Amino acid sequence: MLKLLITDHGFAYENLVQDLSDKEFYMSDYVPEIEMSLPEKVWLLDTTLRDGEQMPGVTYTIDEKILIAHQLDELRVPKIEAGFPITSRGETEAVKKIANLGLDSTIVALARPLKSDIDRALDCDVPYIHIFISTSDLHIEHMMNTTREEVMRQTVEGIEYAKDHGVRVEYSPQDATRTDMGFLKQICVAASEAGAEMLNIPDTVGVMTPRVTYEFFKELKKAVDTPLSAHAHNDLGQATATSLAAVEAGAEQIHVCVNGLGERAGNTSLEEVALSLAAQYEIETGLNYQKIAETSRLVEQLSGVYMPPSTPIVGDNAFSHEAGIHVHGLLGFRGNYEIMSAEFVGKKSRVVAGKHAGRHGIFKMVTDMGFEPSEEQLRAIAREVKSLGDTGKLVTDSDLYAITKNILDIRQEDRVKLQQLLVVTGNNIVPTASVTLSVDGNEMIGSGTGNGPIDSAINAIRNVVNGFADFTLEKFMMKAITGGTDAVADVTVAVKQGDKLITANSVNGDTVMASVEAILKGMNRLLEKKGA
Ligand code: KIV
Ligand code: ZN
Repeated sequence: MLKLLITDHGFAYENLVQDLSDKEFYMSDYVPEIEMSLPEKVWLLDTTLRDGEQMPGVTYTIDEKILIAHQLDELRVPKIEAGFPITSRGETEAVKKIANLGLDSTIVALARPLKSDIDRALDCDVPYIHIFISTSDLHIEHMMNTTREEVMRQTVEGIEYAKDHGVRVEYSPQDATRTDMGFLKQICVAASEAGAEMLNIPDTVGVMTPRVTYEFFKELKKAVDTPLSAHAHNDLGQATATSLAAVEAGAEQIHVCVNGLGERAGNTSLEEVALSLAAQYEIETGLNYQKIAETSRLVEQLSGVYMPPSTPIVGDNAFSHEAGIHVHGLLGFRGNYEIMSAEFVGKKSRVVAGKHAGRHGIFKMVTDMGFEPSEEQLRAIAREVKSLGDTGKLVTDSDLYAITKNILDIRQEDRVKLQQLLVVTGNNIVPTASVTLSVDGNEMIGSGTGNGPIDSAINAIRNVVNGFADFTLEKFMMKAITGGTDAVADVTVAVKQGDKLITANSVNGDTVMASVEAILKGMNRLLEKKGA
């Protein structure tokens, strides 16, 4: 095992090492004899607010950046790259505000090795500057129109200038993986001698394979003692694998983005790397893993980039099980089909209904809902769930409620019913809704505003039920079933009260009505739940 080359990174979270050996990860027992130089701990530098924001279509307000920075700090990310101050006045203000929040995470600003960039970063009061410049001949000739000598001069002078101003420096030779190895070694040595404490090696356009990355980092380590860091892009879907290969070769830090956001196909995903390190390598990151799902959700909401259900760790399906055989295995012993507990990353394991569901899973779901079906009723419920699934429809919790109540012959009215809804929207007004609900037979009226007709309608409902049926909207998905402006909207929601989560769905030609109906269905099911 490689000894850590620097013992004091100076980060607040240095001592927050969890003992991973007592965590339950159900991994392969096969341990081949492979030569690896694994460090004891890997530092994560999160660049969601810089590289992540460079993703086309993603942009945050200053307040949103601050919210994300607070969340990353709660997640105990050691370093947060808050932005690239020279890009705009707003960016400068955001980085400065984040640097002055008093967070435990070390706040980093990006700069080219230019006096103007470094001065702007220094103006932001950051203790740590990440200096980068391209080193590949491709970029030197076809992008910067300069020479290796000039890149070398700027690198050294830039780092020395920043160091003279009392900040810590990390250096990135951009496009390192397409840089001539001889020149890369020379410039890394020069950057270390100039005062860089971490050498970050970017696979800027994601060209590496894991095996080649391993050899690349090994080769570079022959020339420098300074700790190495990996920064990968996901152009060929290998960012996590190549970052881990760098760690196998002794890299002590990985640059990551929440949800793998970033330029083009994105950066290395924080979630994938953190959990792979923990489960596959038993390497600590110091993260508060239980905050992972919450962090992913916040970034989804603020970036507007929602993860597909199959996304590892944080996707809706990462800990959801439908198929009968799997659910049977899971209920017998969780490790059969879950390699880690969902709670470890702040999620919940879920059994879902559908055409592949078996009786064990459906029995678990309906008993969790508070029903006690007989064996025969259970068979009938399973039959109906499967035939609904066969129509190609997603079977939500709300559907399962309806099927079960029907078969158990339970006639129970919804407690909250919509009587009237009026929504006003337009180009010069704040979208506003007024709603009349019947709640346990009593008429209740309320109104709400929002950033659109759906938002205002849901807020109006919230205002009416406030205090007795508070819920949070965990998921909201709308699909247009047909094309054109008269498309039929198919809305699926997940609503939550305490730790109870219910999915519900509605289809309507009117997008607002589809949304309201889905929410009311979910809410009524929450209100029905035993113990709710
Ligand atoms: O991908 C890249 O090369 C970068 C550098 C700024 C480190 O993001
Ligand atoms: Zn990058």
